[in-house]
Amino acid sequence: MASVSVDEAMRRAIELAARGLGTTSPNPVVGCVLLDADGEVVGEGFHAYAGGPHAEIVALAQAGHRAKGGTAVVTLEPCDHTGRTGPCSDALVQAQVARVVIAVPDPTPVAAGGAATLRAAGIRVDLGVRASEAENGNVAWLTAMRRGWPYVIWKYAATLDGRSAAADGTSMWITSEAARMDVHALRATVDAVIVGVGTVLADDPRLTVRNLRDGSLAIRQPLRVVVDSAGRTPLDAQIRDAAARTWIATAAEVGAGPDGGVDLPALLAALHAKGVRAVLLEGGPKLAGAFLAAGLVDRVVGYLAPRLLGAGPAALVDAGVTTIAEAIDLEITDVTQIGPDLRITALPRKREG
Ligand SMILES: NC(=O)c1ccc[n+]([C@@H]2O[C@H](COP(=O)([O-])OP(=O)(O)OC[C@H]3O[C@@H](n4cnc5c(N)ncnc54)[C@H](OP(=O)(O)O)[C@@H]3O)[C@@H](O)[C@H]2O)c1
Repeated sequence: MASVSVDEAMRRAIELAARGLGTTSPNPVVGCVLLDADGEVVGEGFHAYAGGPHAEIVALAQAGHRAKGGTAVVTLEPCDHTGRTGPCSDALVQAQVARVVIAVPDPTPVAAGGAATLRAAGIRVDLGVRASEAENGNVAWLTAMRRGWPYVIWKYAATLDGRSAAADGTSMWITSEAARMDVHALRATVDAVIVGVGTVLADDPRLTVRNLRDGSLAIRQPLRVVVDSAGRTPLDAQIRDAAARTWIATAAEVGAGPDGGVDLPALLAALHAKGVRAVLLEGGPKLAGAFLAAGLVDRVVGYLAPRLLGAGPAALVDAGVTTIAEAIDLEITDVTQIGPDLRITALPRKREG
């Protein structure tokens, strides 16, 4: 096999890491490619689930003795601690690799230090190769670990005139089946989905990850969270079914915010403590407004259907904006057509002060 450059190997490691999206929490996604002394790929691995082998260990096992004198190319600094598995830094030292190339340092105090351990063992360590690409691939986990609460993606569906439901309250289905399948794929990458009790009362959603063609459930389901200050979620609501775990987050349990609703920062802190690193906020308009007003949304994913309603609730209610100067400005990072609909991904711009 032909030799590959370290840069090329890192591109591949980032691809491998993405295979773990949605199944590794509370751990990060990590990919690793092992090159032998001649630069040939002799091992590949990714972290598939918490408690399972780390990417480096999978790649080292494939490489066997050919790892000696070679280069390990890894998307995140190898861990330096014993958790459910042993330190990857030690495994790399024992395998006698000559060099370790890392995209992003580990931000967690408990697991960091792998680079220093490797250097102390005489291994050359290079940091920062394809760092922004690797950072993007792991953005939810890295953001959550750096600041202590989960990464929040607000997803909504609306007509081209920004309506989230019709005047009579009906909102199923605004977008096409293709767009809804895309939402299920997005749900499969997060650890929790959140809705307000208003959505449960209006739509009685299941919020599971399903194959829309045959209705079959995915093996791994995100935690379903209803933000419900007074516990109004009906006992027979579909969200309480046995298909996935559900948390009815009441003000009594989480704490109340200034307006009497559930305290949203406390809710996110509680989710972080439960091991949740990425959440999908699925509405409705009032809860989304409260999250945005509090600056708690990291990414917006809007599905826009080529339809007009002319009446009915807006996709967003009361986001704390009363004048144009207070508008929440977004930077669009992706526009993709999905069936007849548009999916727009955007990041809220950081506000001054
Ligand atoms: N198109 C879409 O993407 C989409 C998505 C979802 C929903 N919808 C539509 O939205 C409509 C429901 O709208 P909605 O605004 O009533 O639903 P919602 O945002 O899901 O729920 C709002 C409720 O959440 C509770 N809540 C608890 N703590 C809160 C806090 N800190 N901030 C804000 N709310 C808090 C409040 O009820 P308590 O005071 O009782 O706790 C509040 O009335 C339905 O017609 C549904 O079909 C559309």
